Amino acid sequence: MQSDYGISIWGNDNYKIEGDNILINYGKKPSLLEITKKIRDKGYKGPILLRFPHLIKKQIDILFNEFKRASKEFNYKGKFRAVFPLKVNQFPNFVNEIVKVSNGYNYGLEAGSKAELIIAMAKTPIGAPITVNGFKDKEMIALCFIAAKSGHDITVTIEGLNELKTIIEVNKEFNANSKSPVAPKIGMRIRLHSSGIGTWAKSGGYSSKFGLTSTELLEACDMLEKENLIDNFSMIHFHIGSQMEEISPLKKALREAGNIYADLKKQGANALTSINIGGGLAVEYSQVQKNENRNYSIKEFANDVIYFMQEIAKNKGVKEPDIYTESGRFIAAHHSILVAPVLELFSQEYNEKSLRLKKKNPPLIEELYDLYKSINKNSAREYLHDAIDHLDSLLTLFDLGYIDLEDRSNTEILVNLIIKKAIKLLAQDNSDELTKLQNKFQEKYLVNFSIFQSLPDFWGLGQTFPIMPISHLSKKPTQAASIWDITCDSDGEISYDAKAPLKLHDVDVEKEEYFLAFFLTGAYQEVLGMKHNLFSHPTEAIVRFNENGDYEFDSILEAQNLMDILDDLDYDIGAIDKKLKSNIEESNLIDDEEKSIILGKLYLYLSENSYLKTIQASKV
Ligand SMILES: Cc1ncc(COP(=O)(O)O)c(C=O)c1O
Repeated sequence: MQSDYGISIWGNDNYKIEGDNILINYGKKPSLLEITKKIRDKGYKGPILLRFPHLIKKQIDILFNEFKRASKEFNYKGKFRAVFPLKVNQFPNFVNEIVKVSNGYNYGLEAGSKAELIIAMAKTPIGAPITVNGFKDKEMIALCFIAAKSGHDITVTIEGLNELKTIIEVNKEFNANSKSPVAPKIGMRIRLHSSGIGTWAKSGGYSSKFGLTSTELLEACDMLEKENLIDNFSMIHFHIGSQMEEISPLKKALREAGNIYADLKKQGANALTSINIGGGLAVEYSQVQKNENRNYSIKEFANDVIYFMQEIAKNKGVKEPDIYTESGRFIAAHHSILVAPVLELFSQEYNEKSLRLKKKNPPLIEELYDLYKSINKNSAREYLHDAIDHLDSLLTLFDLGYIDLEDRSNTEILVNLIIKKAIKLLAQDNSDELTKLQNKFQEKYLVNFSIFQSLPDFWGLGQTFPIMPISHLSKKPTQAASIWDITCDSDGEISYDAKAPLKLHDVDVEKEEYFLAFFLTGAYQEVLGMKHNLFSHPTEAIVRFNENGDYEFDSILEAQNLMDILDDLDYDIGAIDKKLKSNIEESNLIDDEEKSIILGKLYLYLSENSYLKTIQASKV
């Protein structure tokens, strides 16, 4: 039986397997292979990041529709509003699309730094909310005033009392002599005693880096009152951590935040109308049923938020708050897929052609050869045992000097060939022993991408991402697979995990192309990605569907060329160019005619990116 690579667990109905192919379940349902080949036919090689704007829109629709449904069901009076936290993905090909597809929702942006704030000020439609979190200096707060004076609905969330003092100071500078004073709305991040769960749980809780204690909250209100700014205080904010795996910490946080909201209102914070519940809505990354990452649905999430806010408002006799969310991962993760070519299968070198059999071979090697030639379904298990046994003996004979390097090479090739043949012949056998053998003799797939650049959370945090081939899907994959990237770093490996086994096909990549796709890469990975070994952000393309269901490519952006990568590191690329050129021109190892050919080649290579273009004879 073929494998569906857990698509029903993580795929969100966005994909469909049909025959050999995985299809995009949208429009005319093109296959991922067809899309990939079309881009490669335009001359773009190496890894390709595909962005699908319809998948951004789908997630935004789900978020808004679920809160609309829950509000209706509970007859909730507060409004629902949402912003996208830019830290999750600031790349222009993503941000421009999110702004485009969210048209009609009044969807805004969240900023956590001055540079992100500039993006938010330039890209958020007037009327849609901007929220500003994180530590801020006077300049950042002044930028918030400029945004407010430009007509933006902007809320500055303070993380500590010093920020509030700066707001008061900047307000004086901007509004003291103004006939129509305008200031941003003020939010306060609250330091909850309830904390989150999972890898990012430390964003919440008493020891969190962020937020005001209850004493500071009361003090902040007094300061605002004194400065006549209390009517700008409109929001309290919390965030209990990204990828919230369970719903229970959210329930606790909602109770706590709801009571803080109600009590602050009772204390006289009349303009306080909103609770911003931050992000944290999780994404299902697991490819195996028993390892699922999330124990709740978006429906349960929306129901809980609305229910708790309504209950607390009713019990304390205050107005039901408007609810803001800053979900990032949930909105962005699905929209992009990294497709990368497999360059080599490690065991590909173990082929019959490479055997160097002698006229007279050591008897154990003769025996291995016989096993290889005569193995069949009935004998597969027995021959497999014999081959592994012979491998041990022959390696010992080599160590003791009884056989030579050619014999050792023949041993390795024959044993690998026997194992491969046996695993294929026993494909229907699900015994523990075979699984153990497959696990032991994994195939290493060398893939043209960088884990550090494209899956940094795998490297840094062990976060897994769904991985599957985009062809051969009607055939049963037989190889337990480890994935090697092309960096010179032993951490650049996704090792085979028997608990979440990745099996791939036994292909000869010199004869046919084989691509792997890495899914759910749209959140956090791109900007956290690092240029280890100077592998830069991969070539990217927007795949846009029109009303007829056909797709077209938009904004194809090729990975940086070699000189641009060096320029980014602040090398003087003019000097590098000059030096490389003069080295060739002044070399007395080459004649003049050859010099111009070599110079031509050099400039061609400098204009290309760092990913591998050719390996052996095949194009990658
Ligand atoms: C304040 C704040 N809001 C929103 C988010 C987004 O979280 P997520 O991507 O899990 O939805 C974060 C992420 O850490 C955050 O710190």
